[in-house]
Amino acid sequence: MRFGHFDDERKEYVITDPRTPYPWINFLGCEEFYSIVTNTAGGYSFFKDARLRRITRYRYNNVPADDGGKYFYINEKGKIWSPGWKPVKRELDRYSCRHGMGYTVVTGEVDQLEAEVLYMVPLGFRGEVQRVKLTNRGGSKRAFSLFSFVEWCLWDALDDASNFQRNFSTGQVEVVGPTIYHKTEFRERRDHYAFYTVNEEIAGLDTDREAFLGLYNGFDAPDAVVECRARDSRAHGWSPVASHHLEIELEPGQEKQLVYVLGYVEVPPGKKFTGHQVINKGSAEAMMERFRTPADVGAAFDELAAFWNDLLSVYRLEHPEPELNRAVNTWNQYQCMVTFNFSRSASLFESGIGRGMGFRDSNQDLIGFVHQVPDRARERILDIAATQFEDGGAYHQYQPLTKKGNDAVGRNFNDDPLWLILSTDEYLRETGDWSILEEMVPFDNDVNNKASLFEHLKRSFYHVVHNLGPHGLPLIGRADWNDCLNLNCFSETPGESFQTTENREGGVAESVFIAGMFVLYGEAYAEICRRLGKADEARKAKGHIREMKEVIDAHGWDGRWFVRAYDHFGERVGSDERDEGKIFIESQGMCIMAGVGLEDGRARQALDSVKERLDCPFGIVLHNPAFTGYIVKYGEISSYPEGYKENAGIFCHNNPWIMIAETMLGNGDAAWDYFRKICPPYLEEISELHRTEPYVYAQMIAGKDAHKPGEAKNSWLTGTAAWNYYAITQFILGIRVHYDGLEINPVIPSAWEGYSVTRKFRGATYHIGVSNPSRVSSGVKAITLNGEPLEGRLVPVREAGSINEVRVVMG
Ligand code: GLC
Ligand code: GLC
Repeated sequence: MRFGHFDDERKEYVITDPRTPYPWINFLGCEEFYSIVTNTAGGYSFFKDARLRRITRYRYNNVPADDGGKYFYINEKGKIWSPGWKPVKRELDRYSCRHGMGYTVVTGEVDQLEAEVLYMVPLGFRGEVQRVKLTNRGGSKRAFSLFSFVEWCLWDALDDASNFQRNFSTGQVEVVGPTIYHKTEFRERRDHYAFYTVNEEIAGLDTDREAFLGLYNGFDAPDAVVECRARDSRAHGWSPVASHHLEIELEPGQEKQLVYVLGYVEVPPGKKFTGHQVINKGSAEAMMERFRTPADVGAAFDELAAFWNDLLSVYRLEHPEPELNRAVNTWNQYQCMVTFNFSRSASLFESGIGRGMGFRDSNQDLIGFVHQVPDRARERILDIAATQFEDGGAYHQYQPLTKKGNDAVGRNFNDDPLWLILSTDEYLRETGDWSILEEMVPFDNDVNNKASLFEHLKRSFYHVVHNLGPHGLPLIGRADWNDCLNLNCFSETPGESFQTTENREGGVAESVFIAGMFVLYGEAYAEICRRLGKADEARKAKGHIREMKEVIDAHGWDGRWFVRAYDHFGERVGSDERDEGKIFIESQGMCIMAGVGLEDGRARQALDSVKERLDCPFGIVLHNPAFTGYIVKYGEISSYPEGYKENAGIFCHNNPWIMIAETMLGNGDAAWDYFRKICPPYLEEISELHRTEPYVYAQMIAGKDAHKPGEAKNSWLTGTAAWNYYAITQFILGIRVHYDGLEINPVIPSAWEGYSVTRKFRGATYHIGVSNPSRVSSGVKAITLNGEPLEGRLVPVREAGSINEVRVVMG
């Protein structure tokens, strides 16, 4: 069952039933000011950091779900409703929510009165702008009241949700005309405040939550709205809010537009006040001035659309299947940019008070957006590298506001350093900007201790070489990619962190996954060395890689698939010797992507085992059989009930590793089958089961052993976005970025006739037409570039500004 449809022309998903199986959200903002908005106008805003600079309040895991947001209420002669259906939940004659690129439009209609609210964060603006359009579609004159509503958060979202003994006494506001300023803690050390305003005269306002709602009401029936009378309240402590009351009259056919601005302001030191405790409103007034009229909003909207069109123009696919086009051209790329902006901080599954930016996650996210924002990707690589330690190890995460690493979620995840090679390598391939390797980058953010980025990559590589275990495989440390395979932890205490605890000395557990990674990204490192003219270092690196391959051959192969790891006692994890967790996806994907077993049939055998044991109608599960009880020597992985999360859930993040592995064997049908199974637009029909948004990937879909296989959780903020984008664009559609050009190698279902891609690459444009007359799934018979036949599959870098025609014939 569907709850809406794609509008491909406008790049929107249009929700037509407000009762989606879970709130379906969108993200606004791509610079400093961010909002989350749900399909019923729920959500919140923050500045840069969802925990430390939360602007409006949100209550997670609330009852009912998704209560609290940027609400509007209409009261027409006692008939009360909200354009987004919630919070009032009065049935609407018409409802739609259009989630678009960086904006959302919620529209409701009751008795021929239409109310449309556009929510957006304009470019270069520290605030959210809301344009409310009211239209009288009826034949008689209407008179009604419109109430707006936001609830302020007292800045630190964790403290706001816990420190009530203090927070109920600190809240402060200031009011000037229709503008409500939230200035809690500005009197002391904060240099920032927020405001909410409307470009129209008001009939009244409220700034105190209890006065507006009434102590015993929910958001669905505020006293002020029900009685159609703002209280003109002033918050002193308790919970400051901002609500405007407008009285509106509309002739038949008449339309009226209002502009609301929710802004964030920082005041320079020494300029905080203009009078005793009177805040300096200069910047706020300038922001209001920028959005005085609906035309101002329209201009900003067009600017935002142009910005997104440009970002999405780098890779354009034309394929007979609309589902694939909308995934590749719009929604997958959009999701990649959202992970760039939001990392893992704030969604409906990430509370904004938990994790900072992951070292591992951020490097992987980068392969999904480097083609869109290469300059910002460059900056991101340097930020991440600056948190690395001298020995090549890494903090597992850093805080975006300070850019400093911390140990809050542990350290010594021994896969972390290698991901820096992946991101840098993809950056080099995309941009050809080798100067990044010469940038001087601190270790552990110590400006007195710097080395070139190249040196950081070298340390990443040797961090593995210097941390080998008893079999010569890489030591796993706290964990590798699978945060929950905690082989050195041994936790028996409830609540103890699996990621920061090590209850036994001298962890010797080893990872075959990291071994595969070392071969894959080690090769990339060696190639970088070679291209830099460091032939000796390249040779040396190759030697280490060769040795690692030998170790994988000796200890990493279980007979029909790759072993996953060796535990603390030197026993195999992911082996036919075990009753549960016999085979894991990660080492199959990573070893084969690294080319291990391609020549001697082991890769094919491992992939056949994946198909046989891990595949299911909803995707590839993480391992099989699932763990049916807690195993202290394995840790968190066995803490989850069967089929969920790391215990044999479908972790969509690493399904693409198997897709890529299949393409390496030329098996386009299998790669495509895996891709299609988890690709959101293809799941629209099963929205009821899948539950999360049909326009973005979820981190996890419940696996075949779960109570409800196929049910997704944790949508949006996941490495799944980047890896699937990488797999489809570069390995299935086969337009692979290469240091010297574009390497063309489609590996597709044999039934496909062809497709075309427009790729912008280093300033030039390539129109690439792929045709498949003999219905093969891999193999390139001929390529022409601007009419001239090419030797091999590499389309060389062409002059910036040039437009090039590339014809590819498969066979
Ligand atoms: C989460 C983490 C990621 C990890 C994965 C598997 O998605 O963000 O770093 O690799 O879980 O445990
Ligand atoms: C939990 C999750 C895992 C995530 C980790 C982050 O263990 O299961 O997916 O990576 O938390 O610390």
